[in-house]
Amino acid sequence: KEIAYYEEIDSTNTRLKAWAKEGAMEGSIVIAEEQLQGKGRLGRIWDSPKETGIWMSILVKPQIGIEKIPQITLLAGLATCEAIRKTTGLEAMIKWPNDIVVNNKKVCGILCELVNTGKDTAVIIGIGINVNSKKFPDDLPYATSLYLEGKEVYMREPIISCLLEQLEGYYIQYKKQLSLHNIIEQYKDKCINMNREVNIVSSTESYRATVKDIDVEGRLIVQKQNGIEETILAGEVSVR
Ligand code: BTN
Repeated sequence: KEIAYYEEIDSTNTRLKAWAKEGAMEGSIVIAEEQLQGKGRLGRIWDSPKETGIWMSILVKPQIGIEKIPQITLLAGLATCEAIRKTTGLEAMIKWPNDIVVNNKKVCGILCELVNTGKDTAVIIGIGINVNSKKFPDDLPYATSLYLEGKEVYMREPIISCLLEQLEGYYIQYKKQLSLHNIIEQYKDKCINMNREVNIVSSTESYRATVKDIDVEGRLIVQKQNGIEETILAGEVSVR
């Protein structure tokens, strides 16, 4: 395993993707103090200012098809949630599929990307945690940091090492069966959406529904107001 550390980089995901194509092995990590072009989900920008957060990408090679990437995302979300809880004592929760929230505000986002290395298929797990950020732009009322919620400055190193330990543990379990079934109950315990009403927003429609369950594939099972159940894949919709 190798770790590449940068003071400044475009995006740790982009860097690790290139490295994967050059033959980086499973477990390789790219981490940076600052990202100039941090990437968020749905083509958004992820603001990654200097030394205030954890901007990190990890390479895994689980030999799964693209349809299973959401499972890796869920697993990474659970590992991150546990690491934040253990190292800060804050009551971090998961907002399906993989935002980590504290007091209902987002402290962490995860962006998984599939990469074809030429030899195999690998997954880049990109994790961004707002650790000591003191302020967010007014147009991001839903964003927060561990510092703002815990009223404490946190060292990043213990969070990183705990996160990697958690991730490795869950990943080893996942790889045994290429299934979330050993993990999904723990995930559901931490998921704030369970049994709650949510807004499901896709490119074509928007409706209110109640979250009934999360299945072993990591899909959200919701019940619409007319009683009909729908199964929702991560990445297809936004849940508010
Ligand atoms: C989201 O939109 O919620 C996902 C944000 C993911 C940000 C992380 S920071 C490290 C890695 N490198 C990137 O460019 N993005 C991810």
